[in-house]
Amino acid sequence: MTAANRIVLSSDHTAIRLRQAIAAHIASHGWVAVDIGPTTAESSHYPEHGEAAARLVASGDCRFGIILCGTGQGIMMAANKVKGIRCGVCVDTFSARMIRQHNDANMLSIGVRVVGEGLVLDIVDAFLTAEFEGGRHATRVEMIRALEEQRPLSPEASDRQSSGSQGRLR
Ligand code: RB5
Repeated sequence: MTAANRIVLSSDHTAIRLRQAIAAHIASHGWVAVDIGPTTAESSHYPEHGEAAARLVASGDCRFGIILCGTGQGIMMAANKVKGIRCGVCVDTFSARMIRQHNDANMLSIGVRVVGEGLVLDIVDAFLTAEFEGGRHATRVEMIRALEEQRPLSPEASDRQSSGSQGRLR
């Protein structure tokens, strides 16, 4: 069962303080922050932390995941190896909104060595307040799922794929 208000947070050693700041920030907005650490500054391996957070999202225990490492890139790559995860690195609020609206991302990755805390909190807000738009974007997300499961696209999704689309951000 999906816990609709739970967000898992994880990072490697580079981003402990920022991760804790994000946890406090989202908690103040009514989310339950499930902070799975680490809490000590010893060097650690970002793939382990990315995987641990991703598994809580993929299992439905948490609605979203927010993960951090130096660049946001390595931990994002690890999280995306878990089936059902769609995670993007964001350094701006536009991308954070779009990965929800168009890609139905369920995880957000941030690079602590790339962006400062003020912008990070805005990125988190943009991600959490945007809604998936569905429609043609649902077809494309379904294409990602088919790729992940190494199966052909369903005939219904194929039909939708070949139909046209309108709008500024097609
Ligand atoms: C750790 O120095 C660094 O490599 C890691 O945090 C991350 O940036 C990897 O993608």
